[in-house]
Amino acid sequence: MFRTRRLRKNENIRRLVRENKLSVDDLIYPLFIEEGENIEKEIASMPGIKRFSLDRIKSELDEVAELKIPAVLLFGIPAAKDDSGSETWNDNGVIQQAIRYIKKNYPSLYVITDVCFCEYTSHGHCGIIHDNDVDNDATLPNIAKQVISHVKAGADMVAPSGMMDGTIQTIREALDESGFYQIPIMSYAVKFSSAYYGPFRDAADSAPTFGDRKTYQMDPANRREAMLEAGYDDLEGADILMVKPALSYLDIIRDVRNEFDKPVACYNVSGEYAMIKAAAEKGWIDGEKVMMETLLSMKRAGADIIITYFAKEVAKVLKNS
Ligand code: PBG
Ligand code: ZN
Repeated sequence: MFRTRRLRKNENIRRLVRENKLSVDDLIYPLFIEEGENIEKEIASMPGIKRFSLDRIKSELDEVAELKIPAVLLFGIPAAKDDSGSETWNDNGVIQQAIRYIKKNYPSLYVITDVCFCEYTSHGHCGIIHDNDVDNDATLPNIAKQVISHVKAGADMVAPSGMMDGTIQTIREALDESGFYQIPIMSYAVKFSSAYYGPFRDAADSAPTFGDRKTYQMDPANRREAMLEAGYDDLEGADILMVKPALSYLDIIRDVRNEFDKPVACYNVSGEYAMIKAAAEKGWIDGEKVMMETLLSMKRAGADIIITYFAKEVAKVLKNS
């Protein structure tokens, strides 16, 4: 009889035949930077995750560096919002200041910026509003302005998350024309219109004040369409393709992995984090084990890179194992 149990006999043989491993090298840690002073405020629905003003962020960054997490993904919360989100391309805006601070004090930390408008617009949508909807082509030039401002401040990579058609081509051209041909783009290529973003919208103060994001983010029911989204971003020159959210979309991660040879990232989003934290707090699950198993499932599905609020915790577990 063929016996699959032979190679499960003890931890050493299990280590030898283990197909997938989590590593600190896989992780990107999101950071919420709020304009102002003396802010260090835990997000109620995301235990352990805080909004920081720049003057309070040092110990957080020290920890990230000490744990050898390779990269951070920056989200900004500006002091003032307007119709177009014009603070996003202010060279002295909260994110631009954060980039300069991090690159000056932690030069080897890789800095990726989220490129969108929803934290910066008075209406909370991811672009310019015309006729009660986000106007795709009116938004594109503003995306280019935002990207150039981030990169001038020293960002190593940009990650557009607004799901406007033509985003990647617009950004690639803007970067190349400005001499930033070496700056890569991590595209939120397949981003679903998901209820799993709930806690993030509190964290980043970015909930839409009317309607929803269903005219630009993808329908959670669609799988073939994900290949269209990823395919055009690939053609337009995305360097890394991301799937978001991760946990309920492992099939999509696998599809993208099989179809494209570029690195695949996934975003273990705020709701996925909050569910594990809440159940663990209640004592209903072993939070650390479920965290590791969940992130491992993303690797197994085919992700090379995982953006996760668990990054520091995972790095600590891996360090001690
Ligand atoms: C906005 C943006 C969202 C997230 C990252 N960038 C949410 C949204 O579309 O409302 C979600 C991240 C998370 O839930 O952790 N463009
Ligand atoms: Zn947005």
